[in-house]
Amino acid sequence: MANYYITTPIYYVNDRPHIGHCYTTTLADCAARFARLMGHDTFFLTGTDEHGQKVEKSAQAKGLTPQQLADENAAHFEAAMRLIGSSHDDFIRTTQKRHTRQVQAAFKKLLASGDVYLGTFEGWYDEGQEEYVTDNQAREKNFVGFNGKPLIRATEENYYFKLSKWQPALEKLLKDRPDFVRPSARMNEVLGRLRDGLQDVPISRTSFSWGIPLPDTNGHVAWVWIDALLNYATAIGAVDAEIAREEGVPADRARFWPTQVHAIGKEILWFHAVIWPAQLMALGLPLPECIYAHSFWISEGKKMSKTLGNFIDLAALQAYVDRYSLDALRWYMLTQGPLRETDADFSYAKFVEVYNADLANGIGNCASRVANMIEKYFGGALPDVDLSGSVVWSRFAPATTADFDFRALTSNAFQAARIAHERMSLDEALMQGTSLVGQIDLFIAHARPFSIAKEIDKNPENSTAQREQLAASLVLCAEAIRIASLFLYPAMPAKMAQLWRTWNCSPLVDPNNPNSAFKAPLAELALFAGPHGLKPGHKLAKGDALFMRADPTQPAPTPLSPVTAPSA
Ligand code: MSP
Repeated sequence: MANYYITTPIYYVNDRPHIGHCYTTTLADCAARFARLMGHDTFFLTGTDEHGQKVEKSAQAKGLTPQQLADENAAHFEAAMRLIGSSHDDFIRTTQKRHTRQVQAAFKKLLASGDVYLGTFEGWYDEGQEEYVTDNQAREKNFVGFNGKPLIRATEENYYFKLSKWQPALEKLLKDRPDFVRPSARMNEVLGRLRDGLQDVPISRTSFSWGIPLPDTNGHVAWVWIDALLNYATAIGAVDAEIAREEGVPADRARFWPTQVHAIGKEILWFHAVIWPAQLMALGLPLPECIYAHSFWISEGKKMSKTLGNFIDLAALQAYVDRYSLDALRWYMLTQGPLRETDADFSYAKFVEVYNADLANGIGNCASRVANMIEKYFGGALPDVDLSGSVVWSRFAPATTADFDFRALTSNAFQAARIAHERMSLDEALMQGTSLVGQIDLFIAHARPFSIAKEIDKNPENSTAQREQLAASLVLCAEAIRIASLFLYPAMPAKMAQLWRTWNCSPLVDPNNPNSAFKAPLAELALFAGPHGLKPGHKLAKGDALFMRADPTQPAPTPLSPVTAPSA
């Protein structure tokens, strides 16, 4: 059992949550659930980023203190994470003392080691991103910032982080560990920008006050990014164990350092792939395994915008959940989302297509067909079939034309899912479940258990061989569905828990709680006819349909009219 620590970005509290934030957290949730299923000791962190000028300004505009705005919107983010069924182990807020005190300790340490110094800086400042850009970048961007506003020429006396010192170490890191940044196209972006050369970064501010006060300075507060990145370490007490303990961080969390995966969106890659490792090296802390940067959701073919009316906020997501179920929404996001280099379109038509193909006509239909036949032909209890040794179909039906080897199919699916999970190819890991279901459907079309049953009916006296065949075909299907459901669980925990309850075969310690621990690691659970396999005499019910078929002619759950989203 290995340790597995995964994080999401901490989200800015100057805005309300939307599909983008929900997506990254769902992605990390799916990876965390896979990790727990694999048997890893897992810790999953999400949270909110609450300091900085943007929050201060938004609060002023609303007549609130920054802390009031942060409290209000952090609650919205926590609600969003509940809405999407996130199983995070902790939700960190950067205004919490466990965080602020460790950030101050980190600053002191860096000042003492000379990695931070006081200096004067002049450069191009992007107000939207709250960062200085290099002269080259400023020219490339035509002196226009992230939010479309002009870059500002600014001068400040600041504390600087000696980023330049880490240029050779970072180059070596990225060369030695080609998987440090994923997917690989993103790595190339980082390498390209690194070639421009690194400048020291101002990490303190005096122009506003909503930040962590930096000790031993004349009223400087921390730059929001230096504060924010440290959340990954402060949450588990990796910066200063003593402070962490005083502030209630359990000491045994330290075992999770370093992080396996920082899941982020592509726009914040530079901070994570360059500034963060440099910060960690300066603090003498081990580096994360992987920065995984996904792309962006657009909506109905266009960039999401509140005025266009295609903005997918929580209300829009809730409408999908209400009509199709939360797990269907998670399935769509996880299998059709912007996991790799390209942006993904959230389209109602596509949603319905995928829902019907993978869920209603896929696992839902397959499980209910098999349960129905077991009920009809065997009174709902699995017949006794010898599954020791090879379970190729030709063993039970010697005259068969196409063979199916269920032990090989399921064990290949397990290996593929394990490797895909390690690479954060979560869609591929989940697809092991859907392709197994596809194989089972194909097998049913080939073995035709319903036709075998008809023959038995016609000639009941002389049907020993057919009875064995019918029994074997259904037992093979049921056992393969049990295994397929394991690969589908990380996307659809509630629906799979429902299936396991009706099939009376939950691998969860608490069958009623989809977030409960597993009785055994996946390697064992997924063994065909293994120790957790369905046994002869096992009773399974038909239960309610997992997914009702969706009608593609029905209008989308959210009307595409402009949404006036009151924020805060
Ligand atoms: N607070 C910083 C992150 C600090 S991490 C130490 C921040 N916050 S944010 O609220 O702007 O959230 C950005 C993240 O939200 C992106 O990195 C991505 O994970 C997610 N998304 C925001 N919009 C998105 C889409 N349209 N599509 C997919 N995800 C996007 O940046």
